[in-house]
Amino acid sequence: MKHPMLTILLTAFVISLHCGCLRALPCPPMPDLKNVTEFICSSPTLSEFPSGFPKQTRLITVEFTNVSIIGVDSLRALPDLQELHLSNNKLKTLPNSLFRYLPKLQAVDLTNNLLRDLPPGIFRNNTALKHVALKGNRLAVLRSVWFETLRQLQFLDLSENLLAELPPFCFDTLENLTSLDLSYNRLRELSPRIFAGLASLTGLNLEGNHIQTVQEKTFRAVPNLQFVFLQNNSLANLPAKIFQSLDFLEMLDLSQNRLTSLDPEFSDQVTEMSLDLSENLWVCDCRMKALLDWVKSRSINLLSKKSTICASPNKLKGREIASLKPDDFGSC
Ligand SMILES: *[C@@H]1O[C@H](CO)[C@@H](O)[C@H](O)[C@H]1NC(C)=O
Ligand SMILES: *[C@@H]1O[C@H](CO)[C@@H](O)[C@H](O)[C@H]1NC(C)=O
Ligand SMILES: *[C@@H]1O[C@H](CO)[C@@H](O)[C@H](O)[C@H]1NC(C)=O
Ligand SMILES: *[C@@H]1O[C@H](CO)[C@@H](O)[C@H](O)[C@H]1NC(C)=O
Ligand SMILES: *[C@@H]1O[C@H](CO)[C@@H](O)[C@H](O)[C@H]1NC(C)=O
Repeated sequence: MKHPMLTILLTAFVISLHCGCLRALPCPPMPDLKNVTEFICSSPTLSEFPSGFPKQTRLITVEFTNVSIIGVDSLRALPDLQELHLSNNKLKTLPNSLFRYLPKLQAVDLTNNLLRDLPPGIFRNNTALKHVALKGNRLAVLRSVWFETLRQLQFLDLSENLLAELPPFCFDTLENLTSLDLSYNRLRELSPRIFAGLASLTGLNLEGNHIQTVQEKTFRAVPNLQFVFLQNNSLANLPAKIFQSLDFLEMLDLSQNRLTSLDPEFSDQVTEMSLDLSENLWVCDCRMKALLDWVKSRSINLLSKKSTICASPNKLKGREIASLKPDDFGSC
């Protein structure tokens, strides 16, 4: 089943980044370990960010500790640092120049901290960054300036924050971004230019927001999208041709919304896609018949069939849509 592809995509990155840990030594570092390049701290009582990492350090992991403050000079002279894992701490702010002298930094994981904001110049000098995870913080605003220099960025995880809106063109320099996770925020609408510039994007997760509709041209900027997650929003209707520019669509999840109809206006190249339409308010009329005919003609894999049911008309209420016969729709 293709359903959890995006999750796999995202966790694969986290797992691969953690592989080095087996070879790593505990920190804070001891002075005689001159050739050690990887350090892991996971003491739950550690309250101060460790110091004294040697110049050749390539990976630092300080996770599941009690660190709430990182000093401005903590990471100053580490020209080879590639990965910094700071998830599951108590960080509320970061100094503006914390990452400035880390020219080789490729991955930063700040998942599950208490960050409400980031300084404008936080990633200014980190042009090698490929992975940024800010999941599970308290970000209420995104600043375009954070992303301006990140042309190599491939994975950006902003899920489980408090984002209510996104500034237009916010991501427009991220030409290498393949995966964008905005799930479980408070988004009500998407500015139509929000995905401008994301030419490489293949996975987009918008699950668990409060999005009511998406404008027709929104996805035109992201022709390579393969996995689109819009489940558990407040979608009541979608413009007819909204997905038509997506030739490579493999998974579309529209479950747990308030949709009453969906026009089968997908790209002709889309076949064998997985589609989740469950838990909506489908009107089983001639439009639904047209959708169902399209599903069958393109071998679309309907997911969660048992909870994909008609809300109306009365005579079909509660019926499983996939099991309806052409006659059930009356004369269309
Ligand atoms: C560090 O170098 C010493 C001497 O070359 C070697 O014995 C030791 O295994 C090295 N340690 C690591 C962790 O690579
Ligand atoms: C974490 O730090 C706070 C103070 O910042 C302290 O009250 C708490 O006991 C610490 N927790 C652990 C597990 O050390
Ligand atoms: C960016 O990093 C380089 C190399 O570490 C350093 O020389 C330069 O001062 C940094 N730029 C800024 C704006 O701090
Ligand atoms: C980023 O995108 C540019 C232009 O699309 C491309 O030339 C470059 O190879 C990409 N870099 C990576 C690391 O994928
Ligand atoms: C749907 O999203 C809301 C937040 O918008 C969340 O509280 C709820 O648990 C989600 N429901 C499911 C079934 O995931």
